[in-house]
Amino acid sequence: MNWLPRPAEGTAWVAPSLLSADFADITADIADMTAAGADLLHLDVMDAHFVPNLTFGPFICAAVRRASDLPLDAHLMMTNPEQYLEPFAKAGIDGLTIHVEADAPVAETLARIGELGMKRGISLKPGTPVVEILPFLDQVDLVLVMTVQPGFGGQSFDQRGVEKIAELARRRDAGEGEFLINVDGGINDRTGARCREAGADILVSGSWLLKAEDRSKAAALLRG
Ligand code: DX5
Ligand code: ZN
Repeated sequence: MNWLPRPAEGTAWVAPSLLSADFADITADIADMTAAGADLLHLDVMDAHFVPNLTFGPFICAAVRRASDLPLDAHLMMTNPEQYLEPFAKAGIDGLTIHVEADAPVAETLARIGELGMKRGISLKPGTPVVEILPFLDQVDLVLVMTVQPGFGGQSFDQRGVEKIAELARRRDAGEGEFLINVDGGINDRTGARCREAGADILVSGSWLLKAEDRSKAAALLRG
């Protein structure tokens, strides 16, 4: 397993979302994003049930694994993620994030993710308060704050995420867990800087980063 420590003070790790990549030529996009300074890759798994969109599963994740040595962070937008943990582990995924709103036994699913040798992540939608994930903070390696409704790239940033990031950072400082804070949705140079200042460790960016004319410059702006 390949994972990241906390980033240096005032900086964030850069995670391109492959949702905005060209899947007809995914190795080229991965190589290009790696050269531009990506620190990990974000893979959006959608089941057409938890969200009204359908993307890919472990089979494509395994292909991405063959194309990259970067840590692979899979964001499971699935109603029943607990039924698919082993295939993702076998595909070579390093971190697996489930949604607190999913129809899964959260604590058991997180424990199983850890047993399978992957980092354990929990995510919450923009309308879900942080209080919903408090029982799990000491059982996760990563918290993914969604700043758009999960399902599609290219939406605008939901400001409520900034205060959630700050609250999670405060709770972590107070000893309530040792997780990385990840933020996903509508991230660009401006919204990314606000999240970083609030305490985010990883910035996921799909459309803004992958469609940037100069991806290296865009990645550097996100890193801070
Ligand atoms: C949305 C996904 C995001 C998406 C972000 O459901 O979880 O990872 O790719 O895309 P942008 O950066 O375009 O909002
Ligand atoms: Zn995502």
